Amino acid sequence: MTQHILLIVSGGIAAYKSLELVRVLRRKGIAVRAVLTQSARQFVTPLSLGVLTEDHVYGDMFDLKEEREIGHIQLSRQADLIVIAPATANIIAKMANGIADDLATTLLLATDKPVLAVPAMNVRMWHHLATQRNLKRLHADGIHILEPDSGDMACGEYGKGRLPEPEAIAAEIERLLALPAFDPLTGQPDFAPPPSAHLSGRHILVTAGPTHEPIDPVRYIANRSSGKQGFAIAAAAARAGARVTLVSGPVQLSTPAGVDRVDVQTARDMLAAVEAALPADAAIMVAAVADWRAADAAALKIKKDGSGAPRPLALTENPDILATLGHHARRPTLLVGFAAETNDVTAHAQAKLARKGADWIVANDVSGDVMGGETNAVHIVTAAGIESWDAAPKEAVAAKLIEKVADAFASCSD
Ligand code: CTP
Repeated sequence: MTQHILLIVSGGIAAYKSLELVRVLRRKGIAVRAVLTQSARQFVTPLSLGVLTEDHVYGDMFDLKEEREIGHIQLSRQADLIVIAPATANIIAKMANGIADDLATTLLLATDKPVLAVPAMNVRMWHHLATQRNLKRLHADGIHILEPDSGDMACGEYGKGRLPEPEAIAAEIERLLALPAFDPLTGQPDFAPPPSAHLSGRHILVTAGPTHEPIDPVRYIANRSSGKQGFAIAAAAARAGARVTLVSGPVQLSTPAGVDRVDVQTARDMLAAVEAALPADAAIMVAAVADWRAADAAALKIKKDGSGAPRPLALTENPDILATLGHHARRPTLLVGFAAETNDVTAHAQAKLARKGADWIVANDVSGDVMGGETNAVHIVTAAGIESWDAAPKEAVAAKLIEKVADAFASCSD
C-alpha cells in the first residue's frame, strides 16, 4: 500500500532542498503532497514542487477553490505522516504555542497523525533559549524532531542548524512510517509513555552505546551497540517529565530533546561520568560496556614486526559500572541493568541480578539481529519473577519500561 506524506515547506534558505527530498521519497514509492508557506514561496515555486509531487501544491487557507476541493481538516488527516522540512524557528515557535494563522499551522493543529519536524536555521537561532524551549515543548507533545547537522551555513557562519541531507530525512521518514500507528483516543503514538507515567522531579540516569577501549591510537576494542535502545529510554524518561542524564559511548545518534548528554569513550570514563551524575532516583544501565581493555595501551601505532606472528594482546578487566552502583554508598533507589545474552537468557539474567546488586535486569536475546536493529523482545527479571514482553520497536520497549519505572515510584510513595 502506498504511504502518503504531507510535506510542509516553511521559508528558509534550505527550502530548496525540499525538492530533492520529494524526489528521494518518490523514488522510494512514497506519495508526497506539499504545502508551501507564504515565505517559502520566496525560495521554491509551487510549480516546481507541483511537477515533482505530481499533485496540487497547497498554500492559501482562504483559497475557496481549495477549501471546496479538499478541506484543511481532511488534508491534515489523509497523510500517514506530516513532515515539516525545513522547519524554521518561526513555525516551531508557532507549533509550540498552538498558533494557527495560516494553512500550514492550521493543518498542524488539526491533525491526528504523527508529525516530524526537521529544523533548519542560523546557528544562533538554533541555540537561542526560546528555540530550545519550544523544541522541548514539541518533544513533550510527541512531535518527532530530526536534529539539524553542523557545518558551514548559507549565512557564512559555522555551527548547528543545517538541514540534514534529503537521504537522511527520508531514512527518518521511513523509520517513522514503520512504527505503530497513533492511538486515536489519546492522539499519542502507541509507544509514548501514557500520561499517567509521571517522573517529574525525578533524576534518571541512563548509560547507552558501546565503549571504545584503545589498543593504540588507531585500534580499539568495542562491543556491538548502536545506542538506540538506551537513547529511546532516555527520550521516554524525558517525555515523562524526568531530568535525564544520558552517559553515552561513541554512537551516531542525536540527543533526544530534554536530555543532558555526557559523551565518553572508555568504560573508566563512563564510570566516572556516572558517579559524577549521582545522586539519581533511578539508573538504567543499557550500555554495552567492553568487559576488557588493553593492559597497556600503546602511545604509538603498533607496527607489524615482519615475523608473521602477531604481538600478543594482554587484556585487563574493566570496572563493572552496574555492579559498582549496586554496591554504592549513593546507590540509586531503582537500579536497572540490561543483559545481552545469546543462550539461557533468563537464567543468566537471574544470576546477574544477584551478582550486580540490581533491582531489575532487562534481558534480551541477541542471537538474532537486535544489535543495531529496530525491535527488541525482552524479559524483565526481578526478585518477584519474570515478565516477558513481545518483540516491539525499541521506542515501544522504552515507553513500557519507563511506565514500569513510574509505577514503581508511584507505589513507593503511596
Ligand atoms: N555493565 C556495566 N559495566 C561493565 C559491564 C557491564 O555496567 N563493565 C552493565 C551493562 O550496562 C548491563 C549489564 O551490566 O546493564 C550486563 O551487561 P553484560 O555485558 O550482559 O554482562 P557482563 O557483566 O558482561 O556478564 P557476562 O560477561 O557474564 O555476560
